[in-house]
Amino acid sequence: MKKAIIIGATSGMGLEVAKLLVAKGWMLGIAGRREEVLQHFKEQHPKQVEVQRMDVTQNEAPQLMQQLIDRLGGMDLFLLSAGIGWQNMELQRDIELATAATNVEGFVRMVTTAFHYFREQGGGHIAVISSIAGTKGLGAAPAYSATKRFQNTYIEALSQLAHMQKYPIDFTDIRPGFVATDLLKGGHYPMLMQAPRVATRIVKAIERKKRVVVIDRRYQILVFFWRLIPRRIWESLPIRNR
Ligand SMILES: NC(=O)c1ccc[n+]([C@@H]2O[C@H](COP(=O)([O-])OP(=O)(O)OC[C@H]3O[C@@H](n4cnc5c(N)ncnc54)[C@H](OP(=O)(O)O)[C@@H]3O)[C@@H](O)[C@H]2O)c1
Repeated sequence: MKKAIIIGATSGMGLEVAKLLVAKGWMLGIAGRREEVLQHFKEQHPKQVEVQRMDVTQNEAPQLMQQLIDRLGGMDLFLLSAGIGWQNMELQRDIELATAATNVEGFVRMVTTAFHYFREQGGGHIAVISSIAGTKGLGAAPAYSATKRFQNTYIEALSQLAHMQKYPIDFTDIRPGFVATDLLKGGHYPMLMQAPRVATRIVKAIERKKRVVVIDRRYQILVFFWRLIPRRIWESLPIRNR
């Protein structure tokens, strides 16, 4: 039976992917800060699921992840869905720093743990949910867009490192557009996608071991055109969602 660890499985896309994988017969180790949600999921699937309360911003997170892997009996797939983000037109410093602590520091903490594990094991699959927000700097969400670009670049770098060192590790960088999850609650967003549908696309991309996937086609087109816009013009555009 295949085994996956999902960090950030207490809501949104991580939770929806967990539901799909468990239905496909995977063994899962799931983590997040909301222990009651983790326990509830385990109660529904007691034979397939192990849980671990974990905060990726804390130094102990790698040890807790290793304990979760041990309880699960191994790991074939690592999926990182833990992330935070806000619009921050007022450029509040605490928001920017909190975003970096989770999406950069926490991201590095967990992805390096998975990389080291798979290096020792002789292979595996690292998948992360970043965002299309990493395509360009977004004035409405500076830290969010910058941390997502960091994630895109970091996975590219690790993929090259694995090739150089001949470790058979696969990488999937999942870049959704707007998805109706807790992360966006309270706002009005265009081209909003539903999390269960997006999760189906994520699972397909993981099964096919795609290197980069933008979800969905409308956002593929949007990103294609965003990339073509020269910097001087981009920086003068009022990009906002309302
Ligand atoms: N929604 C969108 O439009 C959208 C679009 C593109 C990309 N994304 C990205 O997709 C990923 C998943 O987000 P989502 O939209 O599914 O939102 P979500 O429902 O808010 O899920 C975020 C998950 O991250 C976990 N998390 C947050 N901080 C954590 C921490 N310090 N330690 C451990 N877990 C933590 C949360 O669990 P706890 O609260 O229990 O810790 C939760 O399970 C994020 O990286 C987000 O940036 C979202």
